[in-house]
Formats: sequence, structure tokens, C-alpha cells
Amino acid sequence: MLIFSKIADLQGYLSPLKSNNQTIGFVPTMGALHKGHLSLINASKEVCSLTVCSIFVNPTQFNDPKDLERYPRTPEKDINMLESVGCDVLFMPGVEEMYPGGSKKELFDFGYLDKILEGAFRPGHFSGVAQVVKRLFEIVKPDKAFFGSKDYQQVMIVKALVKQMNAPIEIVPCPILREPDGLAMSSRNILLSPSERAIASNVPKIMESAVKLITNTGIDAAKFFVQNEVANIPDCRYDYFEVCDADTLEPCKNLEGRKTYVALIALFVGRIRLIDNLVFSL
Ligand code: PAF
Repeated sequence: MLIFSKIADLQGYLSPLKSNNQTIGFVPTMGALHKGHLSLINASKEVCSLTVCSIFVNPTQFNDPKDLERYPRTPEKDINMLESVGCDVLFMPGVEEMYPGGSKKELFDFGYLDKILEGAFRPGHFSGVAQVVKRLFEIVKPDKAFFGSKDYQQVMIVKALVKQMNAPIEIVPCPILREPDGLAMSSRNILLSPSERAIASNVPKIMESAVKLITNTGIDAAKFFVQNEVANIPDCRYDYFEVCDADTLEPCKNLEGRKTYVALIALFVGRIRLIDNLVFSL
């Protein structure tokens, strides 16, 4: 695997390949890689001639400086993992390289999409995500970019960004990978203490029960159930549980039938914020 930290070197390597009609698959990450990330690399390798992964802990998408500080960083392990699945290129820039003028947040507007759910609880988060993804897309110029569906709203924001940029990049959402007890894989999981990790295993169970309740008794009953369940687990703090149209992410009050929905949750286990979602149809 070739590793670049400078934009000019990466582009010097990629541009002759691009002119030679090689398709470039791109997997942007913030490192602390897990099997979910590797599944994105594998998905890219299946359909693209060359796979580029980036590792950059983007300061502009953290609205809490403590969250940025404690975000896990495991570069050596990440490099070994990427090599084990045959990733072709790793781009690991520093903050100066990505934001030479200083890491000032650029503002984006995605209508209601960046104001609800994560956008409401982490103001400015999606502008930071859009800022770095736009910059990375302009640097790598991929044909396809692969994103995990655990960050369901992020995938929709990135699709909207590509439209705004008018860039010929296909956004490929990939399935959530889960631990044997059902917990969605996340870089943040390694920050959980053993007892918090045990508590976190309740999240997928609550989600499954909630989705059953939605179909049997309706959305309000499911919301009430989730809020109560989370309140009764020690060290847990509820942020939201919403049911949205899976295509538009518009929050739903009632189910209309014959539609695909997504139930989304965000909560804290101790100091660690976890998100998850389940897509379901009636
Ligand atoms: O999902 C992530 O890891 C990040 O939000 C991303 C897309 C790499 C942008 O920093």
C-alpha cells in the first residue's frame, strides 16, 4: 500500500491512472478502523480498479473540543488492517495540509436535512463533514465513494453535497456491520469501559423491540418505550429516537404503509455518544 501525506504527491500518483480510465474507489475515514471500514474497502475493491482510503480526524466536524481530543487514534494498527485487505493507497494528511488557511468552519445549507436528528443535537456538525468531504473529493476525484449506513443521515448529506458540487461521483451506502451481540461497529466503541460496553449491547435490542412496537402500536408508543428503556439503564442519556421516511429522512408521525422507514437513535453511554438505525418496511 502506498501512503501519502501530501496532496501534490497523491495527485501526482492518481492523475495518470485517471487519464488511463482506471476507476477510483474512495473510502474516507477518521481512522480507528474496524471491520466495518474494511467492508467498505472490500466493496470498493470489488468494483473499482484502485481503492484509496483517507484517514483524517477532521476538527471542523466536532462541536465539542473534548470529543475531538478523545477521538481514538490508532494509525499503526489502521495501516496494518488496510494492508491486510489489500487497500492500494492511504492518504493521511495533517491539519495544515487539509486546511492551509486555518481550520475555519465553512457553512453549508442542506435545507431540513442538516437541521434534524444529528444536526439538531450537534449544530454545525454536517457543515464540518461537508467541508472535509468536499475537500477530499476535490483532491482524490473518485468515481465512487463508499460510506457506512450507521451514519444514515451523513450518507444523505454526502449525496446532497455531490449534487450541490455537480460532481460525477457515485455515493455507495454499505450495510452496517455489527458485533456478535448486535452492537453497531463504531470507532467510538473502543472508548467504552467494559461495563459501558455491556450496557451498549442493549441498544440494538431496544431498537428491535421499538420497530416491532412501531408496526403494532404506532410511532408514539415506540418513542415512549425507547425513552423509558434508556432512562432505566444506568449511565445512559437519551438524545433522540425518530422514525423517518427512509428515502427523504423526513420525520414521520404516522405510518402510511407500503413505504420504507428508518428508525434512528442517539444516546450517551457514559461520556460516549452512540448512534444506530434500523431500516424497515411495512
Ligand atoms: O464518517 C466519518 O468517519 C467522517 O464523518 C468522514 C466521512 C470521514 C468525514 O470526516
